[in-house]
Amino acid sequence: MEQEVIEKAIQYIKSFFADEYSGHDYWHSMRVYNLATQLAKKENADVFIVQLTALLHDVDDIKLSPETHKSKDNAVAFMEKMSLDKKTIRQVCQIIDEISYKGSDSIVPASKEGKCVQDADRLDAIGAIGIARAFAYGGNHKRIMYDPNIKPIEDMNYEKYRNSKSTTVNHFYEKLFNLKNLMNTNTAKKIADKREKIMSDFLEEFFLEWEGKI
Ligand code: ADP
Ligand code: NI
Repeated sequence: MEQEVIEKAIQYIKSFFADEYSGHDYWHSMRVYNLATQLAKKENADVFIVQLTALLHDVDDIKLSPETHKSKDNAVAFMEKMSLDKKTIRQVCQIIDEISYKGSDSIVPASKEGKCVQDADRLDAIGAIGIARAFAYGGNHKRIMYDPNIKPIEDMNYEKYRNSKSTTVNHFYEKLFNLKNLMNTNTAKKIADKREKIMSDFLEEFFLEWEGKI
């Protein structure tokens, strides 16, 4: 029964995210699902809740679907169609609300399940995949790659973070390098260590090439 819901959720997001190129897509949700499953098993969290939330976490994202964001209509409609009980629906919606990155207004999810999904979502924003997603997002939102005259703004709250028109390289300093210290689980902290190194090596090389030094 639970396995069937998970399989249906995978089919649902596959059609939901068709034609989506902003870095929030079907494959992002699948990577978060896989990582969150590993974390949930290590942390003895409820695997079903973690998997379902990971799969549904972006279907009411404020950038893709501002009109359903607050009430989570898409996620709720899917779960109701699966005849899931009210408690499960509430639990999944609460975690979706808790996990999103909101600059200095970000919160630590209350449950173990929420901590696993938040870590998995954030791990997918760093490392090699994180680099690729940041540039895909930047192009999709018509942001320039880099401008040495525009400096990163640190300590942004949610309002500033959402409205910032910074460059994609600045995004690494404004968000991506903060994520390692915000990981909840020890397993995610270890993975984040390796992924952060990949980003710093990449940027070191990027600046050298920018200045024609190699
Ligand atoms: P979350 O998934 O936690 O809600 P966001 O929606 O802010 O986080 O980010 C989703 C993806 O888009 C991440 O990979 C993130 O790095 C990328 N992204 C968000 N804002 C920017 C930006 N200003 N420049 C480049 N990439 C961005
Ligand atoms: Ni996400």
